[in-house]
Amino acid sequence: MSLQWHEFSSKEALDQQLAASIATELKQAIAQRGTAGLAVSGGRTPAGMFKALRTNDLDWSKVVITLVDERWVQPDHADSNERLTRENLLQDAAAAATFVSLVNQAATPHEALAEIEARLTVMPNPIDVVILGMGDDGHTASLFPNASELEAACASTALLAAVTPPVAPHQRITLTLPSIVKSPKVIVHITGEGKKALLKDAMAADIALTEQYPIRRVLDQVALANVFWAA
Ligand code: 6PG
Repeated sequence: MSLQWHEFSSKEALDQQLAASIATELKQAIAQRGTAGLAVSGGRTPAGMFKALRTNDLDWSKVVITLVDERWVQPDHADSNERLTRENLLQDAAAAATFVSLVNQAATPHEALAEIEARLTVMPNPIDVVILGMGDDGHTASLFPNASELEAACASTALLAAVTPPVAPHQRITLTLPSIVKSPKVIVHITGEGKKALLKDAMAADIALTEQYPIRRVLDQVALANVFWAA
């Protein structure tokens, strides 16, 4: 595993460069295979990058987009990652992309896994580009420290797992660790001095302590990950 850091003087500059980098990868995948897959994270960090990405000149009709993880809420809920993605990414040119939602009407993500996994047959596997965020506790996607489903989600051969975060709100559905690390392009998108320090701590931690940092467990299995960071 090695990390290539890309540091920017502003979040706006980061958003532009990350969007350009993702667009380049998607175009290459389309040129090689006629289709491209992109998995994006939710949370507060990606909205600006989504807005920069959606106007990129590429054949969005050949792009399949899904989420790295989703909170178990309906798409009109304020906390929905799908809502964030629809409002900020699936607009302008990118409205032509195919979006695969990770929620249905089931009471829990555990009950919904089979149905939602079947939707992902339209997604290139491996997914060409996976954009990860990171929480202040070292979680990434919805691989949360101390979640009862964490070990299963790190070992599963399925694309998706259901996770109950010990502290954060809402049950989650998430790409499993193996389905994330299979991607040839894993990018970590973080901002702020605190997350930079946390990621450096996680990567430097003694191997016995990495359990508490799911981001480390993921990155340990990626040959080269790019980190896009701005204060
Ligand atoms: C989610 C995410 C999650 C996110 C981190 C960082 O649904 O919560 O996809 O993994 O990337 O929690 O979130 P922020 O960008 O809000 O700090």
